[in-house]
Amino acid sequence: MLIFLGPPGAGKGTQARTVSEELGIPHISTGDILREASRKGTSLGKAARARMDVGELVPDDVMCGIVEERLNEPDVRDGAILDGFPRTLSQAQFLDRLLEQSGREPALLVNLHLEPQLVIKRLTGRRVCPKCGEIYNSFWHPPREEGVCDKDGARLFQRGDDNEEAIRKRLVAYERETMPLIDYYRHKNAVQDVDGEGDPAAITKRLLDFLKKRA
Ligand code: AP5
Repeated sequence: MLIFLGPPGAGKGTQARTVSEELGIPHISTGDILREASRKGTSLGKAARARMDVGELVPDDVMCGIVEERLNEPDVRDGAILDGFPRTLSQAQFLDRLLEQSGREPALLVNLHLEPQLVIKRLTGRRVCPKCGEIYNSFWHPPREEGVCDKDGARLFQRGDDNEEAIRKRLVAYERETMPLIDYYRHKNAVQDVDGEGDPAAITKRLLDFLKKRA
């Protein structure tokens, strides 16, 4: 099981999409699961949206329930990329127990590093395709036609939490709740550090090289 961890905008989703295709394992983004629930208007979606839009974390018990259900599905038996989970120490301990109880290997943490000053520009420029999930950026990776997905012509959207106020709160939550996980997994000798700055394709290549060496 691979965990992609990093501050908002580090490129977890961008890299996870490509690496998932390359390795042939599912990409599980807890942010995407919550946004989908919100689009469908479920009670989980409504409650989560209120927190997400202001940059606060969704409670641990809710997140652990979602991930447990997803990890019980047959397609993830041989591994998956977890993008956005775990995000707190209690979620990490829950995941450890879940993997152990189901007889799976312990998780490896891919720590994508990005300097905080790059985060705001990356996130305010992000645009996402609602249909295929392709991630664009108005500054670095714009679509050929503004506001339209190159792959399927759908109209791109901007996430509700990609505004400066929510981004600053997300950064604080990351530093306070999530960064301690790097040490937690480092003690288990299960961290691979990756520089999240630079050409996305070069980052993917570095990442795949590291993962092949550890396999
Ligand atoms: P989530 O959806 O997980 O958001 P996040 O962690 O804030 O991360 P992002 O999706 O914003 O960034 P990313 O690293 O994936 O960057 P991306 O690849 O898109 O969570 C959202 C919310 O859901 C949370 O705040 C919380 O409320 C809730 N939540 C989710 N999971 C939870 C959990 N486990 N517990 C509690 N609450 C939870 O890239 C960003 C931009 O940069 C894009 O435009 C991209 O094109 C561009 N880019 C990417 N790489 C590069 C590069 N190398 N160079 C230039 N530009 C690049």
